Amino acid sequence: MEKKKLMVHDFVRMKQEGQKITWITSYDYPTAQFAEAAGIDMILVGDSLGMCVYGYDSTVPVTMDQCIVHCEAVRRGAPNTFVVGDMPLGSYQVSDEEAARNAIRFIKEAGVDAIKLEGGKRVISRIEAILDSGIVVIGHIGLTPQSSGQIGGHKAQGRTAESARLVIEDALAIEEAGAQMLLIEAVPPEVSGFIARKLKIPVLSIGAGADCDGQLLIISDLIGQFTAFTPKFVKRYANVAEVVTNALKEYIKDVQSGAFPTDEHCYHMIKGEEEKLREVIKEYE
Ligand code: KIV
Repeated sequence: MEKKKLMVHDFVRMKQEGQKITWITSYDYPTAQFAEAAGIDMILVGDSLGMCVYGYDSTVPVTMDQCIVHCEAVRRGAPNTFVVGDMPLGSYQVSDEEAARNAIRFIKEAGVDAIKLEGGKRVISRIEAILDSGIVVIGHIGLTPQSSGQIGGHKAQGRTAESARLVIEDALAIEEAGAQMLLIEAVPPEVSGFIARKLKIPVLSIGAGADCDGQLLIISDLIGQFTAFTPKFVKRYANVAEVVTNALKEYIKDVQSGAFPTDEHCYHMIKGEEEKLREVIKEYE
């Protein structure tokens, strides 16, 4: 039976019923297929693709065009899953108009169901402009990698009462602006749990503890494909780097020793054609 695609009202109902929402990043067609087959609720085509796919050392260089291409692939791989496009640095910082224009590109060109953008109070007018275009918006607060320079690096936020107040105020402002969901990254559960209980919209966590309404992880961390570093909040469920490296070592050994390919990997000539080929070969000898 075809999977039923969940929408925002389903996520609100899940929150109300205490049913946790599952969210994962994906950047390509096959992984999106796996995620949909596994029954994931939401997919984020994160700008983390800069590090996980392109090998940049941050998300900063990621462009709108790259995001669109990866969203298109994920959309094709997971047609019945709620897909979120992530607005890269430079796509919404300059003006409300540009933010709305780029958000519309995600919907028109890649067919995503929502967009996510980083920032709290300071991006409220951007959120409103995108909502005015009829697009579902997910806020992202706490550790916001695109502005890591301003928040002291890739560090957990809200660990002091004063810093927690800023996170809480950002969360309240985002709900007030009309965003349909909120993601909190790397914030203590004492803070994120309070926010999740306070807000009516679903509050998702990446590194913000179990008291939120659902969890997000980066697929490349979860399956052990991204090995440069692993944040504290990651739980690894597979070791793809090891599996793939070992498979490639076996392949290299087999090719070098002649163990691959064997007869079973070959296409043989159609019956009766081999004799004719011998005549053809004679012409060239
Ligand atoms: O790009 C991404 O994957 C993200 C997560 C780190 C939240 O924004």
